[in-house]
Amino acid sequence: MVEQSDKILVNQDTESNTQLQQENVQLPANFVTTLNHIASTKYLLSQLRDKNTNTYNFRFFSDRIMRLLVEEAISQEPMIIEKRQSPTGSEYDHYRLKFSPEEYCAVTIIRAGDSMINEVISLLQGITIGKILIQRDEASEDKKPILFYCKFPDNIQDKKRIFILDPMLATGGSVNLCIQKLKDNGVDESNITFINLVSCEDGLRKIHSLYPQVRVITAAIDPILNEHKYIVPGLGDFGDRYFGSR
Ligand code: URA
Repeated sequence: MVEQSDKILVNQDTESNTQLQQENVQLPANFVTTLNHIASTKYLLSQLRDKNTNTYNFRFFSDRIMRLLVEEAISQEPMIIEKRQSPTGSEYDHYRLKFSPEEYCAVTIIRAGDSMINEVISLLQGITIGKILIQRDEASEDKKPILFYCKFPDNIQDKKRIFILDPMLATGGSVNLCIQKLKDNGVDESNITFINLVSCEDGLRKIHSLYPQVRVITAAIDPILNEHKYIVPGLGDFGDRYFGSR
């Protein structure tokens, strides 16, 4: 279904799955980056998919993928390239980030998104952190998102890049509400990158249809959601498995 050529082909998203097959829509390739180009991704992800992986190993392998995701995000940031000399006296192109870590902000969608903070902070020390608590209304049929808490840095509209952190992209309800809250606080949509571990086509289509300038970095795109709006094959409830609460 999804092709990683210059265009990604997916079905048109709508509220109802019955309409999904009706139309095709093309998403630009620069909307979503996967980690398919990194050979270890399949190995690392398969450890998480295994229902017998215990909490200790689930954390270990999640953290390893998150490190790769954050490295990928950093590689997409503006760089200044200057000529420097290596110890052998030869000249090379030296890359440094155009913006300082303080000009970045990461917003975690509590609780699962909190699992990604350590890797972000260890690579971008000085980054500011925002938090948002959005939960799916499990009683409702469409699992609609409800906002419980939101605290962003005061000057969030001045940040050069906002990384939204949430490991699972299912219906897109939570991340879209988060994007909307950021926009309500003056953030430019084009400055938002969503960093995610496992996504699905439904969620990606939903983000792109509402916020076409947002970018997504995800380790893998899974094909479908089940009737409980869990990603399939997926890896189950990420928060429960990472924090050992089940
Ligand atoms: N949240 C999860 O933890 N897993 C899913 O499959 C979907 C949402």
